[in-house]
Amino acid sequence: MSERYESDTLQDFTPEPADTRRVVVLISGNGSNLQALIDAQTHDELGGEIVAVISNEPDAYGLTRAREAGIDAVVLPHREYESRDAYDGALIKVIERHEPDLVVLAGFMRILTPRFVQRFMGRLINIHPSLLPDYQGLNTHARALADGVTRHGCSVHFVTEELDGGPVLMQAVVELAEGENEETLKEKVHAREHLIYPIAVKWCLEGRLQFTGQGATLDGTPLPPQGLRMSHADAAEELDEDLEP
Ligand code: GRF
Repeated sequence: MSERYESDTLQDFTPEPADTRRVVVLISGNGSNLQALIDAQTHDELGGEIVAVISNEPDAYGLTRAREAGIDAVVLPHREYESRDAYDGALIKVIERHEPDLVVLAGFMRILTPRFVQRFMGRLINIHPSLLPDYQGLNTHARALADGVTRHGCSVHFVTEELDGGPVLMQAVVELAEGENEETLKEKVHAREHLIYPIAVKWCLEGRLQFTGQGATLDGTPLPPQGLRMSHADAAEELDEDLEP
């Protein structure tokens, strides 16, 4: 005889697969890269779940994006801490509460302490708006334009103690057009960021991209200094979509 067990709670409960990879995203502003990650998750293309979004800026629009997607949105204002070390200590605690497999910096405008970087090394990635090692730091588009470059782009890299200096996982290149200005270039680069970041996150969560101490590997093979160069077509194939050029 089978017993029928009645429980609203149990009937509504859809268990997460035990091996769901957990992602925490850190932001400071608009969060368009966060949105690209949320969209990938919605389409089952992220390889994991964004379990929390943390911002050091209370007004960051990315917090709204997180809330609208039903993701835990946490504000941790750096101005309330007396030192960088105290702030990073608090940030470590909040992040660890969410037990992430991967910590993703998506426009998080803070220099991280060595203690923070050490804590998450190998599972901490960033996206930077240049073809690293060119144009580390800020104002990358203006500097590239001032130099008269013909190619620019973005890079995903593992975070190490060297600012914008960790091993590069992936890059996407944009060609500069006649009459390109800072705004048009920023927009072009952003579009490429939104393509490659979800792929990089997925491959990290799948263990395909790894940090070895010496550098980064893809499927066990060391990557060159510029990481994997992702063309538009490569990204489209990976995402199994017809993308607009
Ligand atoms: C991006 O350009 C990213 O490369 C840099 O910060 C910017 C964040 O933009 N690290 P958004 O907040 O994702 O729109």
